[in-house]
Amino acid sequence: MTDLDTLRQSWLTRIADASDEQTLEQVRVGAIGKKGEVALKMRELGKMTPEERQTAGPALNALKNEINSALIARKTALADVALDERLRTEWLDVSLSPRPRQQGTLHPVPQVMEEVTAIFADLGYSVAEGPQIETDWYNFDALNIPSHHPARAEMDTFYMARAEGDQRPPHVLRTHTSPVQIRSMQDRGAPLRIICPGRVYRADYDQTHTPMFHQVEGLALGRDISMANLKWTLEEFCRAFFDVEGVELRFRASHFPFTEPSAEVDIRCSWAGGQLKIGEGDDWLEILGSGMVHPKVLEAGGIDPTEWQGFAFGMGIDRIAMLKYGIPDLRAFFDSDLRWLRHYGFGSLDVPTLARGVNR
Ligand code: PHE
Repeated sequence: MTDLDTLRQSWLTRIADASDEQTLEQVRVGAIGKKGEVALKMRELGKMTPEERQTAGPALNALKNEINSALIARKTALADVALDERLRTEWLDVSLSPRPRQQGTLHPVPQVMEEVTAIFADLGYSVAEGPQIETDWYNFDALNIPSHHPARAEMDTFYMARAEGDQRPPHVLRTHTSPVQIRSMQDRGAPLRIICPGRVYRADYDQTHTPMFHQVEGLALGRDISMANLKWTLEEFCRAFFDVEGVELRFRASHFPFTEPSAEVDIRCSWAGGQLKIGEGDDWLEILGSGMVHPKVLEAGGIDPTEWQGFAFGMGIDRIAMLKYGIPDLRAFFDSDLRWLRHYGFGSLDVPTLARGVNR
């Protein structure tokens, strides 16, 4: 029996020393596998006398069971160690914030949209929205721009691809926010006071033009709204937006198919020392287009032009953001460069509200 004891000792030690599952498996094969040492011992039972076999048989079986149990226990222990190790290295503090607090900033475009909305809300305007993919009727015809009108070509329109034989009306990426005027008149009738901020698209790309940019449209309809109301409204807006008391606007006669008369509006500014200052100096910067809504446009919106009249204007949001915050290149607005965003962006707590004012 002493050689069985030696056998037991030697295999139990090897099991205890196995430091991974692979080694443990080799130990198992060597001890109790088909050709393992215990199996070889069992073969010797055949050569024994029945008396010898009666004690040796159960002893060998007990040894086999003991080794087997030790193997299972060791296997479980190794798995526990591996799991502990995994838990230790894959540990994650879920209470940690993913990035340092307050690092994110608001892009100047939504910031300026908020500012514009806050100012016009104060003047009694509500916000209206429309689709960015428009029928050419809403984008052009309803705004008194019939097909073959030169204004269609001037706007560098993106047309949606059409399958051959498609009978639906042609669709475009809206070239301005003016189609929202028509949709709002149809939905809400007169009197009406709305602004429509949103994305617009034109095939154009240089320092002051990007193929997608932002406009805000304004529309006020009433029984006796006049150019004088338009002038006051825009001056009031610029005073609040640029935070300049003596802001001065210049109305230049212009032409838009959807307004009559029409005016482009410039703001007085100075470029002294390469720095733009609004409200002083001898330079003028164009900031928007405007005019009295054309009777045909009112009709397209389902409104009786003998009863109602009003003004409309359209302003580039990116453009006024550049002016207010001294941003020189429009293309950088859409580059998603984090350094640019950190420089020109706004802390989330800077969002303007009517109560706190739009200028801080
Ligand atoms: N829709 C014009 C443009 O995009 C701007 C405008 C709007 C002019 C409303 C007059 C009235 O250029």
